[in-house]
Amino acid sequence: MKPLVFFSLTGQCRRFCDKLGLEQSAIELKPNQDFPELHAPFILLVPSYDEEDVALVDDFLEEAHANCLGFIGSGNRNFGPEFCKTARRYAQLYHLPVLYEFEFNGTTEDVLFVKGLLSHES
Ligand SMILES: Cc1cc2nc3c(=O)[nH]c(=O)nc-3n(C[C@H](O)[C@H](O)[C@H](O)COP(=O)(O)O)c2cc1C
Repeated sequence: MKPLVFFSLTGQCRRFCDKLGLEQSAIELKPNQDFPELHAPFILLVPSYDEEDVALVDDFLEEAHANCLGFIGSGNRNFGPEFCKTARRYAQLYHLPVLYEFEFNGTTEDVLFVKGLLSHES
């Protein structure tokens, strides 16, 4: 299982991770805490906000992007072309793929898809 690093401002991404049932392989980035030390390539799940609201994730990625395999975005389709803009911004910045996008805390289908991504060998 690949580690899933995530950030959550209002709890939707945290709820999604709870539904994945990953226990210790889901690692939350929290303010006022040291960044996690990762010894394996990881996937990053991010909600979608303006840059200043995800500054913590920007800082984490600046340090850790070499080990990042790609991004999963959680957003709200009502934002139209800005849907999942944070995951897309990171993908562009670091030339890494957006692996999946879903709304809010995800459907059963979203959970199954992401479980598959995390357990896939490559
Ligand atoms: C102030 C605010 C701005 C948001 N901007 C966007 C956006 O630009 N694009 C998008 O897809 N979703 C946007 N959203 C929706 C959130 O990214 C989405 O609900 C996400 O699931 C929240 O995850 P979190 O509860 O883990 O923080 C916004 C939500 C809020 C409250």
